[in-house]
Amino acid sequence: MSQPCSNLLLFGATGDLSKRMLLPSLFGLDADGLLPDGLRIVATARSDMDTAAFRTLAAEALTQFIETERRVPATVARFLGRLAYVPLDANQPDGFAALAEAVGDTSNLAIFLSTAPSLFGPTIAGLAGAGLAGPGARLALEKPLGSDLASSRAINDAVAAAYPESRTFRIDHYLGKETVQNLLALRFGNALFEPLWNAAGIDHVQITIAETVGLEGRAGYYDGMGALRDMVQNHMLQLLALVAMEPPARFDPTSVRDEKVKVLRSLRPIDAASVDACSVRGQYGPGAIGGQPVKGYAEELGQASGIETFVALKAHVDNWRWKGVPFYLRTGKRLPERLSEIVIQFKAVPHSMFGEAPLKPNKLILSLQPDENIGLTLMAKAPGLDRDGLRLREVPLDIGINNAFADVRRRIAYERLLLDLIEGKQTLFVRRDEVEAQWTWIDAIRAGWDRAGVTAKPYAAGNWGPSAAIALTERDGVSWHD
Ligand code: BG6
Repeated sequence: MSQPCSNLLLFGATGDLSKRMLLPSLFGLDADGLLPDGLRIVATARSDMDTAAFRTLAAEALTQFIETERRVPATVARFLGRLAYVPLDANQPDGFAALAEAVGDTSNLAIFLSTAPSLFGPTIAGLAGAGLAGPGARLALEKPLGSDLASSRAINDAVAAAYPESRTFRIDHYLGKETVQNLLALRFGNALFEPLWNAAGIDHVQITIAETVGLEGRAGYYDGMGALRDMVQNHMLQLLALVAMEPPARFDPTSVRDEKVKVLRSLRPIDAASVDACSVRGQYGPGAIGGQPVKGYAEELGQASGIETFVALKAHVDNWRWKGVPFYLRTGKRLPERLSEIVIQFKAVPHSMFGEAPLKPNKLILSLQPDENIGLTLMAKAPGLDRDGLRLREVPLDIGINNAFADVRRRIAYERLLLDLIEGKQTLFVRRDEVEAQWTWIDAIRAGWDRAGVTAKPYAAGNWGPSAAIALTERDGVSWHD
C-alpha cells in the first residue's frame, strides 16, 4: 500500500502520549511540508469536548513540547485547522457512526490506537461495524499489546478479524529512533564490520537501557508488568534482533522482518534450570538521583510489591553465527543516568607482539541516548621514545551524529513512525510472528522465575541495579560498560 492517506483517526487523542509525542510529531511533519495536502486528523477520546476545545488542547500541547522558534503562528494555525474532534466511548458501539461520518472518505484511512488494551476489542469491533476497516484502512497499535503470549494472541486475533497483517502496524517506538536505523547503516552500508560480525570476531554484546525516572504516575500499568515485560519483551529484543540478524536482501518489510524473526526464534530459552545463572531481578529502594533523594518503589506505589524495576539477562542466539556469544541485556528504572547503548566487544588479538603491554579488545559503542554517537575504541601508540618497548593506549574514534549532521533537525521517533504509517510503509513496524516469538521467550523466563522462586533483589535508587547484576557478567570475566 503506497497511497498516502487522506484521513488520520487518532484514538486516545487527549492522553499523555498524544500530547507529548503524537500531536508535536504531526505538527513537526506538517511544518516541514511532509503531510499530504488534504490530510485531516480526526481525534477522538472519551472526554466530552468539541473541535474548538480540542484545538485549544492541541495548541497547549504544542506550546509545551515544541520550541518557540518552531511555533510559527501561520504554521500552527494551519496544523490546528486539520484537527477535528469527536467524543466517543469505545464501549458504546452506536458512537462509531458519528466517527465514521466525521471521517467521511475511508478509501485511504490511517487509524492510530493509543488506548487502554481493554478497549482494543470493542474499538476494533466498533470500527469494523462502522465501515472503518475496509481495504483502504490501516491500523496502528501502541503498546501494551498484551501481557503474555496468550493475551497478545487474543489481541492479534481480534485485530486480524478486521485488519489483515498487511494493514496492521504494531508500534515499537525504538524502531523509529535514528541510531537504531544507523545500526543498519553501519552494518550493511560498510564492508568493514560484517566479516567480523560473528562468533569468530565478537566476544560478547551488551545492550543497556537505563532510566533515571521511577514510576512516573504509571503504577496501575507498571506494577502489572515490570521491567521484563515493559522493556525487554519489546525494545531490547528488537535491538538484539537488529544486531544479530543476517543481512536482509532489501530494506523492505518482508526481508527485514523475516531476518529479525529468525533471531527471535533462535533465542535459547531461559527456564527454571537456568534463571539463576542467566537472570537477575531487582527493585529500587530509596536512594538519590542527581543528588536529590528519591523514594523507593514500594513507597511510590503505596504498598509492597514483588515486581522488578530492573532486570539483567544473559541471552544466547543459538545459531551458527552466534555460537557461544553471550548477549548481556540490562534495563532499569532509577539507575544513575539515562543511557541507552549497544556495545559490541570484539575478540582480543590472537597474539600480542608488544610483550607485557596490555591490549584491550576493540569495542564498537552505539549510543542511542542521551546523545547519538557511534564510537570505536582502538589501540594506538602513546607518544614517546619508548626505550622500554612501545606503550599502547586505548583511544576512542567518535562520530557524534549531532556534529556530523549539525544542520539536520533530529526528529523524535514518532515523527518517522507516523509518517511511515501515513505513507503505508511497514518495515519499522513489528510483525505478528515477531511479537509472538518475543512473548514466547519472555513467558518462559517468567515461568522459570515462578518455579525457581526468583524474587526481585533490592538496590538503592541511583545504583546500577543489585550487585548480582555485576556478578552475572563478572562470572564470565566481563564488566558492564558504564
Ligand atoms: C516505554 C516504557 O515503552 O519506553 C517506559 O513503557 C519507558 O517505561 C519508555 O520509560 C522509554 O522510552 P525512551 O524512548 O524514553 O527510551
